[in-house]
Amino acid sequence: MPLTTEAASSEVTALLGMMAKPAEGKLRYLITAGPTYEDLDQVRFLGNRSTGRMGITLAEAAAAQGHAVFLILGPTQLAPPKNISTVRVRCAREMLAAVQTAFDWCDVLCMAAAVADYRPADYVDGKIHKGNDEINLPLVRNPDILHTLSETRSDQIIVGFSLDTHIVLEEAEAKRKAKGMDIIVANTQHAFGGVSTDAVILQNGADPMPAGNSKEQLSKEIVNRSSELAIKMARNSSHSMRMAARRKPPEKK
Ligand code: CTP
Repeated sequence: MPLTTEAASSEVTALLGMMAKPAEGKLRYLITAGPTYEDLDQVRFLGNRSTGRMGITLAEAAAAQGHAVFLILGPTQLAPPKNISTVRVRCAREMLAAVQTAFDWCDVLCMAAAVADYRPADYVDGKIHKGNDEINLPLVRNPDILHTLSETRSDQIIVGFSLDTHIVLEEAEAKRKAKGMDIIVANTQHAFGGVSTDAVILQNGADPMPAGNSKEQLSKEIVNRSSELAIKMARNSSHSMRMAARRKPPEKK
């Protein structure tokens, strides 16, 4: 499908303009969820098994604690949560455009989406027909959304996830530092789709902590920790001045 990064940005801008200010002491959460689909032609795409349940549960947990929540949701069969402003995107570049547009608005960014690291080098506007017994599919790297934003952030707290067939704490911690996350949630592919999880939370200066076995419990823990960090950050007076300065929703183009 043709890229619609501009449409994604405009939709984010329009919805953010309608968001109410969070109550005193509450924060603004920007959360991504779901897979991305990277189109190859008009009928095929590269995707992954993410359903978006983790990010949706996280969005619900943040909203339940009274925070303002904005959700950017990749292609999934799960219904977006009721009463949470949500923008649907398809591919990594659309998700990047949506997150970049909303980033200045937020206090906490939680990148729960399973963003595709690669996409087909070329999009074929039609259908690729079969031919030889073997074909090669050149792929190119997608932008790293989390890393792009962590390099330009002012005072936002950033939560990211890592996924592997088994959890290696040293690798997760190295990823947390390399990508500029405050918190990383290490989990395995067993978490895909269901309500349970095997995640461990790693946070700068704290011991790694297994976070219970449900996505609901894990989400509450992530919201507790990230809100505590964001509030600490805001208490620093120079930061609170900057936060006040960037509290305006993005301007309509
Ligand atoms: N992420 C992102 N943009 C990408 C890829 C990943 O923002 N193009 C985010 C994800 O939302 C997640 C974190 O970065 O929060 C995952 O980082 P990544 O390095 O992709 O971790 P793994 O999936 O564990 O990685 P690897 O490719 O090393 O197996």
